[in-house]
Amino acid sequence: MKKARIAPSLLAADFGNLQRDVEMVNASEATYHHIDVMDGVFVPNISYGMPVVKAIHKYATKPLDVHLMIVDPDRYLEEFANLGAHILTVHYEACTHLHRTIQAIKALGMKAGVALNPHTNVMLLEDIIQDIDLVLIMSVNPGFGGQSFIDNTYEKIKQAKELITRKNSTALIEIDGGVTTANSQKLVDAGADILVAGSFVFKSDNPSNTIKELKG
Ligand code: DX5
Ligand code: ZN
Repeated sequence: MKKARIAPSLLAADFGNLQRDVEMVNASEATYHHIDVMDGVFVPNISYGMPVVKAIHKYATKPLDVHLMIVDPDRYLEEFANLGAHILTVHYEACTHLHRTIQAIKALGMKAGVALNPHTNVMLLEDIIQDIDLVLIMSVNPGFGGQSFIDNTYEKIKQAKELITRKNSTALIEIDGGVTTANSQKLVDAGADILVAGSFVFKSDNPSNTIKELKG
């Protein structure tokens, strides 16, 4: 049975004990550290910016999976490369010249991801799917942790999987928002490769064990 790669979202970490929480992820079965950057413009919330990403990078031993929920991300691509981003994901809805943005991310040596809001149709990626390394399907409206999973996500995973296969793309499918052990297996069965989980991991009694359970 296929196992998911887990990307715990540090948005739900205890910022007063960030080093401790990053080290918990280091020692766990997680594959990435998921880092949510929000600008208060693209989404109605501000999370954290470069100094915090720098602090996370200082202690992280796993690749940084950086999810930019910001307008005009082109302004900061180089800065995120310098901060150690392994995957840099931008939102489809925030990029007028998405192809140019993707090429720039890759030229900086990072993996390029594209995130889709719940209302954004997967087929809009038809002409870019061969150029990208990751499709991030938002399973909640971006901006906040702790929201309920949107059921239509399963359908979008299937569409993304079909598109990736048809176009011979190597893109991975990542699911972000409301992920718990109640839906993790079903998500993987539908075609998800990476599961992001914030609240479910960090609000649990034993986060490391929760990561293991999510992995399946
Ligand atoms: C939401 C973020 C998510 C968030 C997930 O906009 O992109 O990564 O941290 O949090 P949970 O797992 O609590 O829904
Ligand atoms: Zn995220």
